[in-house]
Amino acid sequence: MDIKVKTGELLNEKSDAAILVSFEDEKLSGQLAQADKALGGLISRAIETREFAGKAGETLLLHAGKLFKGGPERLLVVGLGKAAKFKIDTLLRAAGTASTALRGIGVKEATVSASPVGALTVGQTARAWAEGATLALYSFDSFKTPDPKKKEMKRLTILADKPTEPKAKEGAATGKTIADAVCFARDMINTAANEMTPTVMAERAKSAAKDVGLKINVLDAADCRKLGMGAFIGVSLGSVQPPKFITLEYKGGKGKPTVLVGKAITFDSGGISIKPSDGMEKMKYDMAGGAAVIATLRAAAALKLKVNLVGLVPASENLPSGAALKPGDVVKAMNGKTIEIISTDAEGRLVLSDALCYAAKYKPTEIIDIATLTGACVIALGDLAIGMMGNDRTLMEGLSKAGDASAERVWELPMWDEYLERMKGDTTDLKNVGGRQAATVTAGKFLEEFVPKDTPWAHLDIAGTAWEEKGMPYIPKGARGTGVRLILEYLMGAAAPAE
Ligand code: BES
Ligand code: MN
Ligand code: ZN
Repeated sequence: MDIKVKTGELLNEKSDAAILVSFEDEKLSGQLAQADKALGGLISRAIETREFAGKAGETLLLHAGKLFKGGPERLLVVGLGKAAKFKIDTLLRAAGTASTALRGIGVKEATVSASPVGALTVGQTARAWAEGATLALYSFDSFKTPDPKKKEMKRLTILADKPTEPKAKEGAATGKTIADAVCFARDMINTAANEMTPTVMAERAKSAAKDVGLKINVLDAADCRKLGMGAFIGVSLGSVQPPKFITLEYKGGKGKPTVLVGKAITFDSGGISIKPSDGMEKMKYDMAGGAAVIATLRAAAALKLKVNLVGLVPASENLPSGAALKPGDVVKAMNGKTIEIISTDAEGRLVLSDALCYAAKYKPTEIIDIATLTGACVIALGDLAIGMMGNDRTLMEGLSKAGDASAERVWELPMWDEYLERMKGDTTDLKNVGGRQAATVTAGKFLEEFVPKDTPWAHLDIAGTAWEEKGMPYIPKGARGTGVRLILEYLMGAAAPAE
């Protein structure tokens, strides 16, 4: 879908439908009052009869016919809920609700105003409309026979007045770029694992790198073996698909980079410690962390953020075979630490351990890793929050703020040293499982053992938040593309020059 920004008045601009917003139980004002008047009080009538109260998620569709000469054919009023509870997420949801509702009735072109909603600026408002609509209208159709009658929105036109048009343009472009990156991640994650192998993931990363001008290097198994990445290589042994260690670099600022590390198990069967077959098909999304990292670098470059970034994506399948790693086997990571494999299903921490070691080469100012790491995180936080652990207060507070701002919320879990005891090996330095208790935290403590010395680090467990089961206003069923908006928000906040 195209996003266009131009000067104009919502009720005078020709379109299939104009979108308006309304807070719950508030007197009609501005454009809404104007529209109500032109419609002979139809909106107030719907409010009086309680058909529409402006509750979050509510919509009121009115056919305007010829009432607006040369203007919109229909009006769609979307509820925002109580004004006191309004935040950016409310507007993203409204944008999602409006655009999917309009697509549902076959509308191709819609208009909306960039006038500030609540306490937002014009730029933030335009960004939310562009971002929310683009995220909401995403659909993954690669594996379906094309439907010539498929309903599709072609364009959303955001209208501004002359003085604020540049800000609206900038906001809308930012929103579109970020949403496109999220959809780029969603495409990779939704793709069936037989078509999204480590090799294909590396190809996608290459094409993203070419599009926006990122440096890319893909290490193969031999390179990784030479580097001493025994843990990463170990995970790949059961598969005929060769592993790929993808490195991406974006230079937009000065100094040492932020390194982003993303787990990319393109299919996690559990390996020899095989998972129950029920629901195993979902384990194609075990590369969601890696997809988020590639997408984040792509967006950072497209947005020309003033930061330096490195993306590390260890990509591998985790399958059983005669060549696969077995429980009791021992591997050695790049920093020399030995690990006894207790469960081959705890593979994420193995691939991440070598990637964290490899990060040292960049002397990073900070490292953020993102991974669908533990089932226990799904149990602890459900699909509402990302589990966060780390060694640096400032970094974690920054991510926490970015989480609230992006509505990809994070929740911190403790990292007391006692938890590490459970990961200590009998014959090795570490074992890869520390029992059932606090399994999200013990996984985090395991990772900490591979973080380069004195480097601020945060770990994001997205096992519970990477996949959408039901569908939400701007998140269709399937891959959410979790982490892209959160990390970009963090980077933009951390990098943003004060205006
Ligand atoms: N990829 C899984 C974690 C996961 C579970 C992600 C559910 C998304 C939804 C990970 O590799 C795994 O299997 N973890 C094990 C670790 C255990 C063996 C210590 C788990 O959490 O059960
Ligand atoms: Mn696993
Ligand atoms: Zn896994």
